[in-house]
Amino acid sequence: TKLAVFASGTGSNYNAIVEAVKNGTLDAEVSVLVCDKPNAEVVEKAKLNGTPAFVFDPKQYRNKQMFEAKIVEVLQEEKIDLIILAGYMRMIGKTLLRPFEGKIINIHPSLLPSFPGLDAIGQAFDAGVKVSGVTVHYVDAGMDTGKIIAQQAVDVQDGSSRDELQHAIQQVEHQLYPATIQKLITRGE
Ligand code: GRF
Repeated sequence: TKLAVFASGTGSNYNAIVEAVKNGTLDAEVSVLVCDKPNAEVVEKAKLNGTPAFVFDPKQYRNKQMFEAKIVEVLQEEKIDLIILAGYMRMIGKTLLRPFEGKIINIHPSLLPSFPGLDAIGQAFDAGVKVSGVTVHYVDAGMDTGKIIAQQAVDVQDGSSRDELQHAIQQVEHQLYPATIQKLITRGE
């Protein structure tokens, strides 16, 4: 199974997926990293791991349709089976969604449908929830609205800080994402 990982930032989830491939718990290949931020840390991580990368600056394209068409070209050339969004900070438009409908998944740091959108961890922390968590879901045209595939709860300890919640959520993400991708592959999805 050939994966494309899309990321815009640090790439800790990208790393967790690459590690799971290396240690044999994820039976797949990370065939390409797609990144919309040339200076993102994840670009360096891809270099270190030898993952081919398609890195672009959206400003170099007339509009979203143009850069998504280019991404589709790259993905089709690589014969990508599944698109893994891992901190890709853009909505997927129809140019990319249409040819990969049902083949794009995302990870979100809250128990959806609570706290969709930006800074879900901050939103949950500010709301004072006692339980938050992580969701893996299919991507549709909405913001964090697609069908839920997997969720794992994280308790918010009394008196803990936003950073502690973030740390706990990331730990869960790094386990849950590779394991969920492996389940989809096993089920032939
Ligand atoms: C993760 O918390 C993920 O849930 C969200 O973006 C963050 C990406 O972090 N969609 P990283 O770049 O994988 O470290």
